[in-house]
Amino acid sequence: MKVVVLAGLIACAPRGPRDDARRYLADAEFRRAELVASLVAPDNGYSRARLERYARWEQLPAWNPPVAELGDRGDARALDIDASARAGDRDALLALGEKAFFRYPAQLIAGLAPDDAARAADRYGLWRDGARVGGLVRVELLGGATAVAYTCASCHAAARDGRVVVGLGNDRFDIGRLVADAAHLHDPLLAAWGPGRADVSTLTAAEPVRFPDLRPTRYVSHLQVNATVAQRDLASLALRIETLLVTGHGEVVRPPREIALGLALYVWSLAPAGPARVAATPTEQRGRALFDARCAGCHAPPSFTGPPVAIERIGVDAIARSRERGTGTWRVPSLLGVRDRRALFHDGALATLAAVLDPRRLDVGYTDGRVPGAVVEHRFGLDLPDDARADLLAFLDTL
Ligand code: HEC
Ligand code: HEC
Repeated sequence: MKVVVLAGLIACAPRGPRDDARRYLADAEFRRAELVASLVAPDNGYSRARLERYARWEQLPAWNPPVAELGDRGDARALDIDASARAGDRDALLALGEKAFFRYPAQLIAGLAPDDAARAADRYGLWRDGARVGGLVRVELLGGATAVAYTCASCHAAARDGRVVVGLGNDRFDIGRLVADAAHLHDPLLAAWGPGRADVSTLTAAEPVRFPDLRPTRYVSHLQVNATVAQRDLASLALRIETLLVTGHGEVVRPPREIALGLALYVWSLAPAGPARVAATPTEQRGRALFDARCAGCHAPPSFTGPPVAIERIGVDAIARSRERGTGTWRVPSLLGVRDRRALFHDGALATLAAVLDPRRLDVGYTDGRVPGAVVEHRFGLDLPDDARADLLAFLDTL
């Protein structure tokens, strides 16, 4: 009996991220087991590609090219992976991850010269911060050629009130058009993405979803709109990022593992401690009560997220049913920071919280969405009278 109790205690002992971190870096069997355990629907295209190919991806050469941020006139330099990072030291990995978020190439942009890239910033909705341009970097390739690449920060950082909010999806970045124009492609798939969306999850590129807000990533049970990846621990996230970068570079190189892990730690570090402010005014408090009654069953405080829900409860579209990525469920996004987002729902159909609660969005002729047409999913709160809707909106604005 005593033995059983003891075993239970050991199993429940908190596992620090550091343990995951070291094992992710050092232990191939652990990585494989984590990958398998994190894939919720092993038969969809996303999971099959990873299960079939990860053994090969493990063997790819690690790539850490010299890079410089666009606007930085200095020499291009590879990210410095020091001995502490290699040993799995959390602080060293976090510092590396922060640099990598802005500097590690996520994908090269064929046909775009560095001099043209700066000019492209405004046309394609990239942010600017002093001399920096939208997370674009110039990359020195083997053989001396230079290419432009986008980084995590191109899609997952956005300008608000004159500053760059790291983690927030850039709803203005029209990456499909940038890539198509640079390569002189007339690709209807890329043109159909529109600003703030891309398909980074399927091999067909036919299923664009909005750039998510990465700030609350630490709190969500599952990654990606279809809840395709269970986020069991830090290693699940590192693997999600590692495999993204492998596919982003045509499956010929992989990121150094310290970089994938550092990025995961950095993404987790963006998590807000809680709502932006306490619901204090009478209208915010009435809104809070409404929220508790109608919304908290799925968006449960304090992180305002929860386990995935069956697609039928929210709305069923082609992405919900996708053989590439579907799981039969939608992931419940955390609402922490939702007041900053300008592309709401998985496809970014709506731009404002007021629109989410507006019953007119069900009409065929609705025009207040990001593209014209009815938005019929997620019918919660649509029956509220105007004053109650205003209360609920006031509460959402505190998050
Ligand atoms: C081309 C734009 C783009 C780039 C570059 C990009 N992402 Fe993403 N990211 C997306 C999109 C779109 C999704 C949503 C995928 C889905 O739900 O299927 C996503 C999802 C994620 C998620 C899951 C978040 C969630 O809430 O489900 C994480 C974590 C993430 N990205 C991290 C990164 C990191 C780290 C980098 C840099 C290595 C990066 N991304 C580069 C567009 C991008
Ligand atoms: C049955 C579960 C459920 C209930 C109840 C629910 N939601 Fe949601 N909510 C979701 C899911 C799932 C999504 C993601 C839908 C998507 O990605 O298209 C979502 C998305 C949202 C979004 C968009 C967030 C974003 O980042 O795109 C907002 C805002 C939101 N819900 C607010 C509310 C409010 C307010 C209520 C109560 C009136 C509510 N929800 C009730 C499950 C629920």
